[in-house]
Order: sequence, then C-alpha cells, then structure tokens
Amino acid sequence: MRRGDGVKRAPDGGLARFFQAAAGGGAVASEAGGGAGRGSHEAMIEVVGLRKSFGKLAVLKGITLSVGRGEIVSVVGPSGAGKTTMLQILGTLSRPDSGSVVIDGVDVSRLSDNELSAFRNSRIGFVFQFHNLLPEFTAFENVCIPGYIGGRDRREVEARAAELIEQLGLSERRDHKPAELSGGEAQRVAIARALVNSPAVLLADEPSGNLDSRNRDEINRLFVSLRDRFGQTIVIVTHDENLAAMADRKIVMTDGVIA
Ligand SMILES: Nc1ncnc2c1ncn2[C@@H]1O[C@H](COP(=O)(O)OP(=O)(O)O)[C@@H](O)[C@H]1O
Ligand SMILES: [Mg+2]
Repeated sequence: MRRGDGVKRAPDGGLARFFQAAAGGGAVASEAGGGAGRGSHEAMIEVVGLRKSFGKLAVLKGITLSVGRGEIVSVVGPSGAGKTTMLQILGTLSRPDSGSVVIDGVDVSRLSDNELSAFRNSRIGFVFQFHNLLPEFTAFENVCIPGYIGGRDRREVEARAAELIEQLGLSERRDHKPAELSGGEAQRVAIARALVNSPAVLLADEPSGNLDSRNRDEINRLFVSLRDRFGQTIVIVTHDENLAAMADRKIVMTDGVIA
C-alpha cells in the first residue's frame, strides 16, 4: 500500500485547492461551528415544536426531541411518516416552517445560508442509503473531500482521513475507486467521509438498507463502536430491527408525530 499516494498525484495540492476554491475558500467554516454560548452540558440536539408542510401536506406536526451527547437514537416508523424530512431538518438541509433546532449549542435558525453551509460541513456528518461516493476519486480522496471543502489544512485533513480509513478497516481499499469496492466497504468509506471533519452529530438515513445481512450487521456494529470509542452522537433512521435495538433509545414516528 502506498501511503500519501493522493499527495503524490497532486503535488501542488490540486484536489484540495480545487474544492477550497469551489467553496469560496471556506473562510467561514470555523466560525459557525464554534462561537459564544456553546456549552458542553446541554443536549447535543434539541428540537422543539418542528412543523413542516409541503403545500397542503402536513408532514411534521410538532416534533420535540432531545438527543444527548454520545447517544445513539434510532428512528423507526412506516414509510411516509416524515422520518427523512425530520432528519434533513436536523441536518440543516431543510428549514422547518416553525419550531427550533439547536445543535451543539448553536440555534441554526439564526444562521444565514452561507453560515449554514459552513456549519453543515463542519458539524454534521451524513450517511445515506446509497453511498453517494464520487466515482472518479479513490476511497481516500472521497474521505478527504469534506475536509478540503471546509478549507482545513490539507495535511491535517489527510492525516485524519488516513486514521479513519485505518480505524474503519479500509486500509487495503484506500486507493480503490468506488466501483472496485463491495457495498459494505463503500458504505464504510461513506461513514469515514461523514466523520472526517469530526462532526458534532452523525445522521444516517437507512444506512444499511441496501446491504446484505452480513454487511448490514457489520455496519450496525460500526455505529455502536463509533459511540463507544469516540462518543459520537448518532441519529439513525432505520427499518432494521437489529439496528434499532442496538441504539440507546428508539423513537417511533407515525404520521408526522413521535408516538
Ligand atoms: N420535497 C417534498 N415535496 C413534497 N412532498 C414531500 C417532499 N419530501 C417528502 N414529501 C412527502 O412527505 C411525506 C413524508 O416523507 P418522508 O419524510 O420522506 O417520509 P419517510 O422518510 O418516513 O418515508 C411523504 O408523503 C412524502 O411524499
Ligand atoms: Mg425516508
């Protein structure tokens, strides 16, 4: 295995510079996540009275939820219950019609769109049902990209990516492109990518929904170990009863409310 291969192929920091330029230099990246008023004692996620409609369709009808630091919460419920809509609001990808979302002490409704992008990049990690890796880049490069977009020091990003690749058992696959990875491996790369900026929260939407049972169990155990080893706060939407049972708490959503 060739460590630092990505650096050798881009001696001028080409990939890093490309993404930093695309993100406008990431100048606000470190601002939005920190700031005054951020405390370590309160819950990591605090949402109160979330409502969201699409046209006449009321999808979230008053969701109140608190997730502690280092807690894994699973969200289950029938298709169409509003689980993905809620996760997207928790992840600041979508704004609620009313209600508040405070993540790691930051009231995200007060952030401008630019601040929100920087906050999302640095404080939220997403894992979806499909890995969404960029096909033309290696596993290692895919893991680095959110760090480059955030404008972080390139060597620091690459050191963190290498560490995650190792911790997630992907060392042998580091220089492979997504098409050369198994479903389980690709999903582990996606999880490493979600963690590269050390997010406050990891949000996963049916992360094992597309995997066979062996890979599903492996990914499920990985989530638990991220909590145990790193104190990672995690919210997982899942249909997988095993995964739901492994969580610290299970929330059942039905028709836009928490049962
Ligand atoms: N962008 C959107 N525009 C219109 N309707 C939407 C949109 N997103 C979700 N919905 C509708 O909101 C409801 C809840 O969807 P979703 O949050 O995806 O549920 P779940 O993830 O629990 O299956 C569904 O009826 C869905 O069709
Ligand atoms: Mg969904």
